[in-house]
Amino acid sequence: DKAGYKHFMAKEIAEQPAVIGTTLDRYLDAEGRIHLPANGLDFARIDRISMVACGTASYACQVAKYWFEQLARLPVDVDIASEFRYREPPFVANTTALFVSQSGETADTLAALRYCAEQGLQIASLTNVPESSIARESDVALPIEAGVEIGVASTKAFTCQLTALFIMALKAAQVRGTLTPAQIADHLVQLRQLPGLINATLSLSDRIEDVSRKLAEARDVLFLGRGALYPLALEGALKLKEISYIHAEGYASGELKHGPIALIDRKVPVVVLAPTDPLFDKTVSNMQEVLAREGKVILITDAAGAKRAGEGAAHVITLPEIPPALAPILYAIPAQLLAYHTAVAKGTDVDQPRNLAKSVTVE
Ligand code: F6R
Repeated sequence: DKAGYKHFMAKEIAEQPAVIGTTLDRYLDAEGRIHLPANGLDFARIDRISMVACGTASYACQVAKYWFEQLARLPVDVDIASEFRYREPPFVANTTALFVSQSGETADTLAALRYCAEQGLQIASLTNVPESSIARESDVALPIEAGVEIGVASTKAFTCQLTALFIMALKAAQVRGTLTPAQIADHLVQLRQLPGLINATLSLSDRIEDVSRKLAEARDVLFLGRGALYPLALEGALKLKEISYIHAEGYASGELKHGPIALIDRKVPVVVLAPTDPLFDKTVSNMQEVLAREGKVILITDAAGAKRAGEGAAHVITLPEIPPALAPILYAIPAQLLAYHTAVAKGTDVDQPRNLAKSVTVE
């Protein structure tokens, strides 16, 4: 049931404030304590996390790598499952393997899990389906609580994965003593504000629809981001190509001059994901390089960023201010809406894009 929305994808995008609230309630109590399963992850004994996933779920892992490393000083490897399983990687002692999958049935991710189980690793997973194969074969199975996701393009599962992963990184920081109790309490207060900020961002949908009408005319689109916004650039590009069939690529902003800048001309829109954070000025200088080559910049930032760097951009989408650590979750929303409205403008089958299946159970 689409509950009055034109597409399941639109409904699932709109559900995000509510389902993220559910994820938060699952892992945090009213006193702001973090609850992970008791049999679960003892971050005092984990020296490395090896995260494995496919597609959008792998971008959630890439964001989480920044969080675990920065907040908890815990080293993380991220692999896409189809490469990982055939590479048969060696592990250092005290590595926990963490598999992230909306469906919990993705064939390559499941095969990677079985490889790690054979190697004797602790197996943890984050899925949206508690009775799925990946959840059942895990030592520690964590749910994301996103509710059933029907649109083939993953939206609410992605932001719920990110929310759960952020809480796990905070727990790791707490146990490892890399953040003070006060710092953790601050992060938790900010996390509770996320549903409201996402709601405010959803109200920009009409504005994003206007921008998308222009985007629908493009043949190629680039997405740029730095730090934890780099995986969001990858996710924005994947979402766009998946449902609008426009060729899109995501790059780390700093990689631009190592090749992709050759693609820029006045016909190539470049979506720049740039919240004001310590890397903002660096991203903006990459944006200037695009503008100098007449690229059409769509700048997604906050009010302070719009003021500092909005000039020259063809379009500026101004999001609410958010603490830098949580920006990857909020910036997923405009990326989803851009893809959605562009696909609608092009008249593609948004919920059932050609050649794609919701659950990839064959390799
Ligand atoms: C993109 C998308 C896919 C999935 C990937 C993994 O919108 O939906 O890239 O993220 O197929 O699926 P799960 O998470 O079910 O393992």
